Amino acid sequence: MRVLSLTARGFRNLGELRFEPHEGLNVVYGKNAQGKTNLLEAMWLFTGGRSFRGAKDSELVRFGEEEASLALSFFSQEREQKAELVLRAGARRFTLNGVPQRSGAALVGRFCAVVFSPEHLSLVKGGPAERRAFLDSALCQVRPQYAAVFARYRHTLNQRNALLKDIARHPELLDTLSIWDERLCRYGEQLVRDRKAYLERLAPIAAKHYEGISGGREALEVFYEPSFRESMAEELFAARREDLRSGHTSVGPHRDDLGLRLAGAPARMFASQGQQRSIVLALKLAEAAVLALSCGEEPVVFLDDVLSELDAGRQEYLLRTLGGRQVFLTGCGTIPPAGERGEFHVSQGAVSREDAARP
Ligand SMILES: Nc1ncnc2c1ncn2[C@@H]1O[C@H](COP(=O)(O)OP(=O)(O)OP(=O)(O)O)[C@@H](O)[C@H]1O
Ligand SMILES: [Mg+2]
Repeated sequence: MRVLSLTARGFRNLGELRFEPHEGLNVVYGKNAQGKTNLLEAMWLFTGGRSFRGAKDSELVRFGEEEASLALSFFSQEREQKAELVLRAGARRFTLNGVPQRSGAALVGRFCAVVFSPEHLSLVKGGPAERRAFLDSALCQVRPQYAAVFARYRHTLNQRNALLKDIARHPELLDTLSIWDERLCRYGEQLVRDRKAYLERLAPIAAKHYEGISGGREALEVFYEPSFRESMAEELFAARREDLRSGHTSVGPHRDDLGLRLAGAPARMFASQGQQRSIVLALKLAEAAVLALSCGEEPVVFLDDVLSELDAGRQEYLLRTLGGRQVFLTGCGTIPPAGERGEFHVSQGAVSREDAARP
């Protein structure tokens, strides 16, 4: 999997551009607030239509413009493919190889990538919602069906929570609760099964990468922490009185967590800054490895602002491990040891190839 070119018009602060990256390592550098992350975000959107910064469409269109358009040519399944995305007044138009698509979701699994951005650093110390979001978004790329079950689960959960509140005023509605419980369990158990199966593949690879990154100083364990032990239905039923009181559903995958332990201790409480960074990197490298198996090709890797705070040994491990993939690396200046690669300078939304800019 690799990007052949990106063209952009009216996207964030990027000027009209045509970007043709190197097939291996791409170093994208420039001062703060010039458009480096925007450039990665533009390419990332083709993995399924969602920004890794959680941005809304209205934020993606350049201030004062009505429309943003992006086109990505990429090499996959032994041929060149082309995807286009137009954002305009809250509506999107996606096409893949000239064929209009119903939504960004149709692109999932066609252009595969993994992204590491500074926002992900709070994965270790932040709340369970962030860790679930990591699992869910990784799973959506690996198993497009997962997204559909996830959406049904969310919908059912919202309905059940609304009903819990209604029952306080209309006790006769209590009889209908079991219908929602049954549905919630059906989708919920499926989500948990998928998450556990995914983690079984991810965990050993993440542990191996953590060992490599940290020089084997301590072991990383990654595991699933469910909010229920055996049967979701039984525990949901047992928690009914409590749920009716609070108006919220206390059992189910929306309350589960991704457990992380370092040298046997919960990483959430004890991991240092450097260890947190290494854990997230190990998880991302493992995500890339699992994705490579499911999509049959090595995914593109976007590393936003990662290198600057890693020591030389960790930088070296990372770049060595990523060899053989197309990688986009942003930073403000420090560039890792030379080798074959593309270098691009970003300034005020313009991207220029460095060797061309040099006298
Ligand atoms: N819709 C938009 N229209 C115009 N400009 C925007 C829009 N959205 C974001 N920007 C601007 O784009 C600029 C560059 O953002 P970006 O996050 O890509 O910077 P960066 O080069 O990654 O910087 P840093 O090194 O600090 O991470 C920001 O100053 C921001 O204000
Ligand atoms: Mg940035």
